[in-house]
Amino acid sequence: MDNRPIGFFDSGLGGLTCIPNLMKLLPKEKIIYFGDTARTPYGSKATSTIRSFSRQIADFLVKQDVKMIVIACNTVSATCLSDLQRRYPDVPVVGIIQPAAERITKICSTMNKIGIIGTKVTIQSGAYKELIHKLNDEMEIYETPCPAFVPLIEEGIIQNDIMDLTIKYYMDDFILENRLDTMVLGCTHYPLIRSNIKRLYPSLRIINPSEEIVYSIKRILKERDMLAGDFQFENVFYASDLSENFVNMIERIFHEEEVKVKFKNLELEAVEEKIDEI
Ligand code: DGL
Repeated sequence: MDNRPIGFFDSGLGGLTCIPNLMKLLPKEKIIYFGDTARTPYGSKATSTIRSFSRQIADFLVKQDVKMIVIACNTVSATCLSDLQRRYPDVPVVGIIQPAAERITKICSTMNKIGIIGTKVTIQSGAYKELIHKLNDEMEIYETPCPAFVPLIEEGIIQNDIMDLTIKYYMDDFILENRLDTMVLGCTHYPLIRSNIKRLYPSLRIINPSEEIVYSIKRILKERDMLAGDFQFENVFYASDLSENFVNMIERIFHEEEVKVKFKNLELEAVEEKIDEI
């Protein structure tokens, strides 16, 4: 048994889409979340930049004594997973792409035409294709980047015509030309536009890695006898810039869950200083 918190992080609010799934499956776990809202998006940045941002955040989470680090970001998982695993040999570091690849190969067959949408960095890394093909090299995979989705979502531009037009701009030809029947939301921000995608392409099967990752978290914690034994009520959500949208999104995501959340507006650079003060 281990009652320490699980640390989650993302470039912004996207990783929050994993949290309700975790709370349903493992309601006793306490969560510390870090959204790097001051520096989002990561998905068009250089790998070296993403690596240095990720190390800063993961160092911060480790200082909070988390028992596990969950990279709730496809872009970071695609580029920095092994770097972070090497950096913290004593803390399990879980990426989001491997569990998704396992799920895809379990529920899809070689008859399916599978599309992956993600950030530029995720798609250019080829991580999805590589991990899926390691499990089954006959799977038919098509990928395309959708770089405008994250900035729009971070701005809260979701349920409206601008988002619908942007989705159509990226996805109409991609789906039609490749005759896709399955779409993988390869960015943790995208579950927030899942209903738009479903409305625009009703026959498309949608796979959401933000749902799949929580089963891996459970399996790893169980294997290591690290599941929490007592109910932990205080989840903490940090943002490097506490934007109105981040706060609204937390309220929106957790409204029905009736969870207690505590906001802290810590600039990454100031984090250590403030902790020392405490
Ligand atoms: N939510 C992230 C992902 O899963 C990152 C998006 C971004 O910052 O560009 O890829």
